[in-house]
Amino acid sequence: MKILGIETSCDDTGVAVIDDSKPLSNVVSSQAKLHAKYGGVYPSLAKREHQKNLVFVLIKALKKAGLLKKQKTLVDEKTIQNILVREPELSKGTIRFLEEYRKPALSAIAVTIGPGLEPCLWAGVNFAKALAFAWNLPIIPVNHIKAHLFSNNIKKNDLPAVCLIVSGGHTQLILMKSFGEYRILGETRDDAAGECFDKTARILGLKYPGGPEISKLAGLFKGKKTISLPRPMINSKDYDFSFSGLKTAVLYHPAKDKVKEMAHEIQEAIIDVLIKKTEKAVKEFSAKSIVAGGGVTANRELRKRLKRQKVKVYLPDIKLSTDNALMIAEAARYGTKKNWEDIEVKANLRIE
Ligand code: KG4
Ligand code: ZN
Repeated sequence: MKILGIETSCDDTGVAVIDDSKPLSNVVSSQAKLHAKYGGVYPSLAKREHQKNLVFVLIKALKKAGLLKKQKTLVDEKTIQNILVREPELSKGTIRFLEEYRKPALSAIAVTIGPGLEPCLWAGVNFAKALAFAWNLPIIPVNHIKAHLFSNNIKKNDLPAVCLIVSGGHTQLILMKSFGEYRILGETRDDAAGECFDKTARILGLKYPGGPEISKLAGLFKGKKTISLPRPMINSKDYDFSFSGLKTAVLYHPAKDKVKEMAHEIQEAIIDVLIKKTEKAVKEFSAKSIVAGGGVTANRELRKRLKRQKVKVYLPDIKLSTDNALMIAEAARYGTKKNWEDIEVKANLRIE
């Protein structure tokens, strides 16, 4: 069973193909360079980029998977135009592509329907609908957070699991009792962990995305520690997080010029809080494993600290930590096939 995955929830345009569980291709076009100019992601700008990139990324992914075959094809232009009426920059390219290539041997199209930036999500969803209509295929709607979790090949025996989702948009601790049974234990009340990396990096004059930049500089810090930043809510009784105070502490810190040490301390502060709350949840719920997901799991220090835990730890490959469509196609194995007309974006979709 071959599934095409599409991901456009934030600033990465991704298309991937899997054959059962075997990845055939995974193409990501990152908009990081563009957004670096503005220091963050502007949804309308990101949406336009998705529109410009999607056909090209799709062609690359199909080609790599060996599914791209030229063949003049008749296309119902009117319906495609209707489906893509809100994606004007995507419409022409999609029609041209459909006219030029024959239907690939796929059994379904998986697409992220949320959570994420609404305009961006629609670009991917409408594109998926156009393809599903033209190729007469079902769509499997995918929750982006679940996809981050399922980029790990979780074994049933390791449940219940405490899941730590840390990305640019989300910071959540989730209890996974079985596949399909989730409880959000806590989440951030303001900034997400990745957002905190990005915003403090910006204060320090580093480029977007800030996570990798902070992590690089933190690794270069040697010497005695002189800076001490707060660990917000580290001892609170719940599983919630708050990172905006950390950002403010950096903004008003007199030693902002000690960039390496500051980066090191920011990273430590964020990780200390994440680890403490994860450990607490593992204990309280007698979890057999920790499942981590989201862009911040690319952070080597966080990975090291997670691996030191007493229970089994699932971590995605560093390359698959940040947004990609392979995880969307993989998560689709647990999803339900639907008619393209019944697919809607849910920007605030929750896992529960
Ligand atoms: O999951 P993701 O690609 O997109 C969202 O769904 O948000 O996560 C992106 C986030 C960004 O905030 C980025 O700074 C952070 O992941 N990130 C990192 C690292 N690599 C990416 N944070 C810390 N250390 C890293 N090495
Ligand atoms: Zn993500």
